[in-house]
Amino acid sequence: MVSCDQVTTNREWLARDRAHLIHPLHDEALHATGRVWVKGAGALLTDADGRECIDGLAGLWNVTAGHGRTELADAMRDQAAHLAYSSGYSGSSNPMTIELAERLSALCYPTINHFFFTSGGGEATDTSIKMSRAYWKLCGKPDKTKVISRIEGYHGVTLAAMSATGMSPYWPLFEPRVPGFIHIPSPYPYRYVAPEGVSQGLAAANELETAILREGPETVAMFIAEPIQGAGGVIVPQDDYFGRMREICDQYEVLLVADEVITGFGRTGTMFALDHWKVEPDIVQFAKAITSGYFPFGGIGINDRIATTLHDAGRTWMHAYTYSGHPVGCAVALRMLRIIEDENFPEQAATKGQYLLGALDAALGDHPHVGNIRGKGLMCAVELVKDKATKEAFSPDDTVGPRVNKQALERGLFSRVKADTYVLAPAFVITNEQLDQTVEILADSIKAVLD
Ligand SMILES: Cc1ncc(COP(=O)(O)O)c(C=O)c1O
Repeated sequence: MVSCDQVTTNREWLARDRAHLIHPLHDEALHATGRVWVKGAGALLTDADGRECIDGLAGLWNVTAGHGRTELADAMRDQAAHLAYSSGYSGSSNPMTIELAERLSALCYPTINHFFFTSGGGEATDTSIKMSRAYWKLCGKPDKTKVISRIEGYHGVTLAAMSATGMSPYWPLFEPRVPGFIHIPSPYPYRYVAPEGVSQGLAAANELETAILREGPETVAMFIAEPIQGAGGVIVPQDDYFGRMREICDQYEVLLVADEVITGFGRTGTMFALDHWKVEPDIVQFAKAITSGYFPFGGIGINDRIATTLHDAGRTWMHAYTYSGHPVGCAVALRMLRIIEDENFPEQAATKGQYLLGALDAALGDHPHVGNIRGKGLMCAVELVKDKATKEAFSPDDTVGPRVNKQALERGLFSRVKADTYVLAPAFVITNEQLDQTVEILADSIKAVLD
C-alpha cells in the first residue's frame, strides 16, 4: 500500500497535502478541514483517523459498484501484465477496445453503434463538440458550429466543456469562454414558471426552439443536455420535455447530445436515461460508472448516420488522445459491464432509489425549510429554502448548505451540496440499513442547522 503508515493522522496528511497539491476546485479555506481517505469498502470510506463515513455520492457519482471490488482490480492487473498500452491511433488497435465497442453497441440506444473513447467526461464533451462540427462540415453545412446547452448543466471544465457548462461560478476566473455557446433555462420543475396554458415541460423545451430561431438554425450544430441534471442539483425533467426536444432538434437539423456521464449504466433505473422517455440521442456521452471509477475512462457513442458520414468522408478526423481506448481501461469497463448485468444494476438503482426517496419524504417532507425532495433512480436531492410557501432561497451569506454538509460529515455522511441543495447518489451496493442511516444523519444535520 501507499506510505500511509498507521501513525499518520488526518491532520498530518493535510499539512503535507497543502504544501504541494493543487486540488480540483482548489480552495484553501475549505480544504483546511478536509478529510484524507485511506480506505474504501462497499458504500463506506474511512479517513486517516479511522473515521468511517457513508460515501453518499459514490465518490463523484461514479463508484456504482462500491469500493473494494477485487474483480475490477484483477481485471486491471491482468490486462496491465498482458498488454498495458498500445496506440489507438488509426492503423493500430487492440482486442479489449474492439470488444468494448462491440458490447456497448449491443447495450446502447439502437441507432448508436460506433464509439470513441476518452479518459473522462470533459474530454467526452469536447469530442462531441468536435464530432458535431465535423459532421456538419462533411454534410456541406460549415456554418453549423454553435452549441446550445442549459443553465445548471454540467459538462466538464476543459475550455470548450466549461463553455457548455451552464453553472456560472465555473466561468469568471477563466473568461473569455469559447464563442458560440448559448445557454437556455433548465426545465427545473420546482422553479420553472411556464406561461398560462402550456405545460411546464413543453414551455421549457420550447426555449430551445426560441434560441435556435434567434441564432439561426443554419448556425447551430448541437444541443447538449444531461437527461437528469446532476451537479446542478439533481433536476429531473418533466415527462413531456425530452420528446419535444427531440422534435425541435429534428426540425432544425440540430444534433441531440445526451450527456450521460452520470446517468449512464443504470444510475436512474434504466441502462441509459433517455429510455425513460423513449427518446434516442444522436450522440451519447459516458464516463464515470463505465469503470465504476476504478480507471479514468469515458467516451462518446455516435449514431449510424454520423458514423457513415465520417467513414465516407475520405479524410482524417484530426481528433485524438494518447489514452483513447486504453487497453487497461477497456478491460475494467468490460468487467464492469458484466457486473452491471449480473447484479442487475438498473433494477437495484430503481428499487433502492425509491426506498431512499420514500425515507427522505417520511423524515423531512414536513420540515418547514425543506422545499423540495426529488430524484429518479439512485440520485436524489433535498432542496432547503428560507420560505417553503414562496420557495424563497436562503441568502448565500447564510451558508446553510455548507453548514448542513459539515454537520453531515461530522455525523458520518460524506456528500456534496449545490448551494442549499444536498445531493445523494450512493453506490448501488448500499444496503437499506445504510440508506436509513443516510437519511437519519441528513435529517439530524438539517435540524441542527435550521431548528
Ligand atoms: C454530466 C457530466 N458531464 C461531464 C462531466 C465531466 O467529467 P470529468 O470530470 O470526468 O471531466 C461530469 C462530471 O461530473 C458530469 O457530471
